[in-house]
Amino acid sequence: MKRFALLAFVLSIGVAVYTSPASLSAAQKSAKTAGDKKSAVDTKQDKGIGPIKSVTLGPINEELVEKGKSQFEEKCMSCHQLDSRLVGPPLEYSTKDYSPEFIMNMILNSTVMESKDPVAKALLDKYHVPMIVPGVSKEQAREILEFLRSKAPK
Ligand code: HEC
Repeated sequence: MKRFALLAFVLSIGVAVYTSPASLSAAQKSAKTAGDKKSAVDTKQDKGIGPIKSVTLGPINEELVEKGKSQFEEKCMSCHQLDSRLVGPPLEYSTKDYSPEFIMNMILNSTVMESKDPVAKALLDKYHVPMIVPGVSKEQAREILEFLRSKAPK
């Protein structure tokens, strides 16, 4: 009889351990649908796919910020606001959540990113609309990045 109790005990631990990852991912899912930005993946490590392999950042360059601001207003604001969701996500936290390379590759190469990069794929799954950006040069993408850096909450 004692043996049976022990066996039942061991089994119940086994069941608890086995089921806990499932309940965790359910919790993560509901956090995601609630718009919670936190996820298990470290998005900051992903540089994305595209022409930008490495970006070196210095102190905020106001000249770039000014140019980036007008690019942003012209080419991004139809789908993005800084502080709330529109067609795409709000972008004020982008430079905190994603690497500079990821952001610039998203601007320059969104279609490939959405089909091959795991982080961008997950974003497309969440927002359902592909990001289509006409005519942005590398220099302009860098200016927009600087503008987003300048808007990131401290
Ligand atoms: C046609 C609408 C559209 C336009 C225009 C657009 N985006 Fe997006 N963007 C999206 C959508 C939708 C997503 C979510 C991911 C997806 O669906 O691919 C996104 C995702 C992003 C992301 C990654 C997610 C995040 O939270 O940071 C960045 C960065 C971004 N966009 C920056 C820009 C910038 C900068 C511009 C202007 C050069 C721009 N986008 C223009 C729709 C757009």
